[in-house]
Amino acid sequence: MSKRLLAALAGEAVWPPPVWLMRQAGRYLPEYRALRAEARDFIDLCTTPRLATAVTLQPVRRFGFDAAILFSDILILPWALGQDLRFAEGEGPLLAPLRDATGLAALDPGRVAAAVAPVLETVARVREAVGEAALIGFAGAPFTVACYMVEGRGGDFATARALAWRDPVLFGELIDLLTAATTTYLLAQAKAGAEALMLFDSWAGLLPAAQFAAYVTAPATRIAAALRAERPDVPLIGFPRLAGMALGTYAAATGVQGLGLDTAVDPLLATGAVPAPVALQGNLDPLALLVGGDALAAGIEAILEVMQGRPHIFNLGHGVLPQTPPEHVADLVQRVRAA
Ligand code: CP3
Repeated sequence: MSKRLLAALAGEAVWPPPVWLMRQAGRYLPEYRALRAEARDFIDLCTTPRLATAVTLQPVRRFGFDAAILFSDILILPWALGQDLRFAEGEGPLLAPLRDATGLAALDPGRVAAAVAPVLETVARVREAVGEAALIGFAGAPFTVACYMVEGRGGDFATARALAWRDPVLFGELIDLLTAATTTYLLAQAKAGAEALMLFDSWAGLLPAAQFAAYVTAPATRIAAALRAERPDVPLIGFPRLAGMALGTYAAATGVQGLGLDTAVDPLLATGAVPAPVALQGNLDPLALLVGGDALAAGIEAILEVMQGRPHIFNLGHGVLPQTPPEHVADLVQRVRAA
């Protein structure tokens, strides 16, 4: 019998739907904060297999989710390529900004394998211990990762997006380098034991149509094709956040087995734009989970009503917020299971 999440990604209308949450491991859990305190910093946490394995499994053990998502970060790849990265307390990630050809030339794909070895060790350890849940590996999609690499920090990414207009050749070379490195990294996670993979393009929705096609859809299509060729047994979930009307084209072009819906997508429109067998994943507002009670119940109900009868994976439309009470997460799982 296949795991529930994998059955949904194979196109089955599993009901009640499998459930997991983006950022299900993190600061809202006291047991996460305790282990976080044992690591020197966030990168140390991501690259210490003992700690990263424990953190990955914490929410699965506590809530009985249908998936474990590897505890790591999309910015581990730029770090592995040699870009300086820090996670400043209360500020989010800070990278030494890549602004020109010299910055691009300084990236070294040759050092990635050794740098990510501890992350792959975590994948193997989690797979060993994960039980009935499915292990999801992931990477940031080239455009979103390029945004952080060029800008040097989160925000509106105006510097990164201006570079794409000013010097499309340089920006395209960065996207191509990331597309190749991301493909290699995802294949390595599959080899280490990841049973499904997810590509996070959190800032895809910032782009005008032609750039969306070039920097979001085209790289995801190449990554998906390479994964299908090498590991047809490992399904891919694409998450082009805030892509809006481009969702249907993205799903059709890439051939992803799962499509993540952000909070702003009307689930009913999504079911029309992206027909089965693609599994639609999402898309409860993280704030409905934070508020809990009747708001949470109504939010869940609205999604389940539309998704019943088609392959669906229940999730949020973006990550769990740090202030979320853990009891609300337990309530969510119970309500989805009762569907
Ligand atoms: O549970 C999971 O979803 C797995 C772990 C995971 C993390 N980051 C852990 C993390 C995953 C899948 C990510 C992806 C990620 N990281 C994305 C794509 C998804 C999204 O949220 O849009 C992005 C854009 C990042 C970059 C990033 N990492 C930012 C902007 C921040 C700071 C914001 C914050 O919440 O602190 C991080 C840090 C980060 N990544 C934390 C965690 C648990 C917090 C660090 C800490 O605990 O101190």
